[in-house]
Amino acid sequence: MAERRVGLWLIGAVGGVGATATLGLSALRRGLAEPVGLTTALPEFAGLDLDAPAEFVVGGHDIRQATFADAVQELYKQSHVFSPALLAGCARDLDDWSANLRPGTLLGAGETITRLGDRPDLVRFASARAAITQVQRDLHDFRTRHRLEQVVVLNVASTEPPFTLTPAHATLAQLDTILDQPDALPASSVYAYAALDLGWPYVNFTPSTGAGIPALAELAQLRQAVFGGKDGKTGETLLKSVLAPMFAERNLQVLSWVGHNIFGNRDGIVLNNPSNKASKIRTKDALLAQLLGYKPQSHVSIEYIESLGDWKTAWDHIHFAGFLGTKMTLQFTWQGCDSLLAAPLVLDLARLALFAQRQGQVGVLSQLACFFKSPMGDDDHHFGRQFAKLVAYAAQHHRTPPVSVS
Ligand SMILES: NC(=O)c1ccc[n+]([C@@H]2O[C@H](COP(=O)([O-])OP(=O)(O)OC[C@H]3O[C@@H](n4cnc5c(N)ncnc54)[C@H](O)[C@@H]3O)[C@@H](O)[C@H]2O)c1
Repeated sequence: MAERRVGLWLIGAVGGVGATATLGLSALRRGLAEPVGLTTALPEFAGLDLDAPAEFVVGGHDIRQATFADAVQELYKQSHVFSPALLAGCARDLDDWSANLRPGTLLGAGETITRLGDRPDLVRFASARAAITQVQRDLHDFRTRHRLEQVVVLNVASTEPPFTLTPAHATLAQLDTILDQPDALPASSVYAYAALDLGWPYVNFTPSTGAGIPALAELAQLRQAVFGGKDGKTGETLLKSVLAPMFAERNLQVLSWVGHNIFGNRDGIVLNNPSNKASKIRTKDALLAQLLGYKPQSHVSIEYIESLGDWKTAWDHIHFAGFLGTKMTLQFTWQGCDSLLAAPLVLDLARLALFAQRQGQVGVLSQLACFFKSPMGDDDHHFGRQFAKLVAYAAQHHRTPPVSVS
């Protein structure tokens, strides 16, 4: 059977997460790495007709002037991740795929992100409609040049400040009346509109608005497209969604939950702006009340500490009451390399979104909830139940009955 050819189009392609996902894809297709960290490599998903790493071509938008090789070298030097042998083994793919990088749009991205934009060919669009048109041209060109059957658009760009929806965002017809204005949509939603309007899958790995607009859900239905998000659940929040159910299910009463996060990558620089940070804190703090059934006192801090590079430390202090009102404490320290935690999830999401589209699914990909801090289409943050839903989805879509692994 002829191999499928599919595309992964990354928004924020040469950032830490985008470049690491790209390097990882190359390493997997060349047999230079094991699929450790990929959920879709688990036996539960072996029966799904997912795209193999060798079937992918990568491209993307960014606002900074860099190649994939520059981006992984930066991580290598600053954060001491990857081996020289791995970088050398993947160099050719990174060069080939860097030819697919295009200037992104800064329309509606906010001040802090705009300051990052240093590509000399960035266009200042006069309206959201003009930016959407250009993004669609780039997407079409990528698909045609590489003769791709499908392309998934995945947002791994910097976190935008919160965006306030207006009545004009309620329906597609109303949105159309404001699209000629420059501030009709944040940049993440310009890309989401462009992808969904083409009928292509769009996945939002960031806390930015993306496809989270009623008019864009309507657009997805109209064009028979799928979308999912938002904000990848990779570290501290993943642990929260595992540990909070334990307190609830043992009937221990959480009195307060304090989480301090420190890290020094470019995402940290952007999140250092209080407005951009507000988007992130919102997605990191929202789950406790749902998981516990009440809202304990909580605090989340995110601080940029330059020397740490991509290595994030989260220190959480959980104060809880046990039998006879006895107060006790759980503390944990999580030291993870942000881009290495995120990259395999990006590949999982790309494979699962392309698969869902081939299955004829339309609208929100609620089966992907376990990957996100603010899952779209599912209010449940319980990691165990979210993962069970993904496994049940996989069992329903096996080409052949799953092989027993006991
Ligand atoms: N573990 C994780 O790393 C993790 C987990 C969850 C969510 N995220 C989110 O993923 C995103 C990427 O994280 P990162 O560490 O790679 O950040 P990064 O700063 O290294 O990369 C972001 C990239 O996006 C580009 N960009 C910004 N605005 C753009 C626009 N309008 N169009 C095109 N490109 C644009 C930047 O130039 C940069 O290259 C962030 O929003 C972050 O909050 C990361």
